Amino acid sequence: MPFRLLGNSGLRVPLFSLGGWLTLGGSVKGDPVKEIIKAAWENGINMFDTAESYAGGQSEIEMGRVIKELNFRRSDLIITTKLFWGVRKGPNDTGLSRKHIIEGTRESLQRLGLEYVDVIFAHRADHSVPMEEVVRAFNFVIDKGYALYWGTSEWSAQQIEEAHHVATKLGLIAPIAEQCEHHLLHRDHPEREFAPLYRKYNLGTMVFSPLFGGILTGKYNNGIPDDSRLAVEQEDQFKRKIEFLKSPEGQRQIEIIRKLSDLAEKELGCKMSQLALAWVARNPNTSSVILGASKPEQVRDNLKALEVIPKLTPAVLAKIDDIVGNKPAPWPTYGRLALDPLSKFSVL
Ligand SMILES: NC(=O)c1ccc[n+]([C@@H]2O[C@H](COP(=O)([O-])OP(=O)(O)OC[C@H]3O[C@@H](n4cnc5c(N)ncnc54)[C@H](OP(=O)(O)O)[C@@H]3O)[C@@H](O)[C@H]2O)c1
Repeated sequence: MPFRLLGNSGLRVPLFSLGGWLTLGGSVKGDPVKEIIKAAWENGINMFDTAESYAGGQSEIEMGRVIKELNFRRSDLIITTKLFWGVRKGPNDTGLSRKHIIEGTRESLQRLGLEYVDVIFAHRADHSVPMEEVVRAFNFVIDKGYALYWGTSEWSAQQIEEAHHVATKLGLIAPIAEQCEHHLLHRDHPEREFAPLYRKYNLGTMVFSPLFGGILTGKYNNGIPDDSRLAVEQEDQFKRKIEFLKSPEGQRQIEIIRKLSDLAEKELGCKMSQLALAWVARNPNTSSVILGASKPEQVRDNLKALEVIPKLTPAVLAKIDDIVGNKPAPWPTYGRLALDPLSKFSVL
């Protein structure tokens, strides 16, 4: 497993990590959780991501239980959790007030059965709380030893900039990384909007939903398989996704995935899912790609993406860009040489 630095920090994180949204403690409970975490660990994954709100707190509980049962040494693990959505809906049980950041962190640690997490993420930005309160509260959490670093998730570039400015002004620790959605069908936010931040702050991303929830495996190309996330999950967002897949835009995306699957099989000798994962992992601004899995075989299968990364030559990447047709427009250069968005020091 290759390791990269998590953003502008000294923390070495595996290029592929494992997350628990919907699966661990949710659709997967008991021994199968252990099997999935074990499959990840045995294949070099030592970073596990969860959140206070996943499965109403059960994801943290299950992850903590398995960590204990597998007898891992704490310093060999990197555990990340996230605060914002809460597990209760009282006026101070959600969001990023100092009160919820501190109380929420303590509750997460209790559920996990751990003394600290490695990184605590603000699961969304909170427009109702002054940024100084947010930055000070995450610094308190770090000073107390509840977390070693903090990060953001699905924040805008402007919000991340503000957090950096406030931290600099106050001599405090800034967020080290952004946990964001990034995959072949979702590029503008992580690639174009964040481009200046990669340079200015050495921002690193911990990428979520790299398979677009499974759609980029190609398994939805001919309908909804019975045991798939879209068939199993009952929330409205998944019903909306099923409707989306039937819409003309959804069908256009499925057609793109069919073409990419063809390229994966015929030119790269791999599966669509492995191509999609390798494509995100090859981006140098990606610190870690968080895998989601409902079965241990998925973890093992997905890690074969590591062998696909060297096959993504500039010619192959150009073909992928042509098929998908969503390469973000570069920032205007006003006649000067453009900066390479994937390299800190080179001009194109
Ligand atoms: N910060 C945030 O706001 C945020 C948001 C979302 C996720 N996350 C984090 O990112 C993690 C990953 O997100 P995600 O679960 O959406 O990732 P994903 O990789 O896009 O989707 C994972 C799902 O795809 C299916 N799948 C995976 N590998 C497969 C394979 N080889 N063959 C067939 N199906 C396969 C499985 O679903 P089924 O088998 O059930 O169909 C699996 O649960 C989460 O667990 C969480 O830790 C963070």
